[in-house]
Amino acid sequence: MLSNNETMNESTELKIGSDARMENIKARLSISSSNETMNEGTEPKHGSEAWLQKQQAEIDEATWRKLVSTKVPPRYQAAETDNSVALDWIRDPKGVLYIYGPTGTGKTHMSWALVREHLRILDPWAFMGGSVASFLDQMKPGRIPNDKLGTQLDPQVKAIQTRLLLLDDIGSTRLTDWTLETLFNILDSRYNRLLPTIISSNLMPGDDLVDLVGDRIASRMAEDATLISVVGEDRRRP
Ligand SMILES: Nc1ncnc2c1ncn2[C@@H]1O[C@H](COP(=O)(O)OP(=O)(O)OP(=O)(O)O)[C@@H](O)[C@H]1O
Ligand SMILES: [Mg+2]
Repeated sequence: MLSNNETMNESTELKIGSDARMENIKARLSISSSNETMNEGTEPKHGSEAWLQKQQAEIDEATWRKLVSTKVPPRYQAAETDNSVALDWIRDPKGVLYIYGPTGTGKTHMSWALVREHLRILDPWAFMGGSVASFLDQMKPGRIPNDKLGTQLDPQVKAIQTRLLLLDDIGSTRLTDWTLETLFNILDSRYNRLLPTIISSNLMPGDDLVDLVGDRIASRMAEDATLISVVGEDRRRP
């Protein structure tokens, strides 16, 4: 099912670790009353107060800060978003979150803001991704690093298995046959495993996107997609 939302670029900066910040996170996660906090099993419901407490118990502020500083590019390390569709999605990520709009409107900022929230989940497989061109480049044959035992660490396998994948800026460069094949393999495998992916692009969903990635990738992206249109001026221009 598709949902669409027009958003303006607004962000509020609250000090990491401050009470105001925690209140802000709780408010944005729409914390509900404690009587609806448990699933049928023993795990607290995703997004509930009990769930949030569990997350906070698992990851303290210093650990989270360190994770953010290693996983998020410096420009976006303080990124926050108040877009309710995006925040709802990251609370319970499913399918593809497709963030699109003109240059400089804040698509990458919003993507990393969501990754920052997601990094509160303490899990070595929590996140992978970045700018799609350099991300896929590191997967090219011959660029895959070896671990100490000489066994190849395949980033493509990691990209398939990570709990959240970010493919930033699809459409900014031409995709070669190898890139398309790799992209298809990753997205198809994640689609089969019901694993969520954030994709940002200058391309509106539609013909241009299909022309770029082809029917098979576009179809998988569309099936369980949430669309966010980011509008506004180019923030890079004074
Ligand atoms: N909500 C925001 N609050 C503060 N700064 C922002 C916000 N959104 C974007 N910016 C800043 O504006 C600049 C452009 O944002 P961003 O890189 O996210 O644009 P983009 O839409 O991804 O552009 P492109 O299409 O060229 O990739 C960056 O310096 C970013 O840090
Ligand atoms: Mg960008």
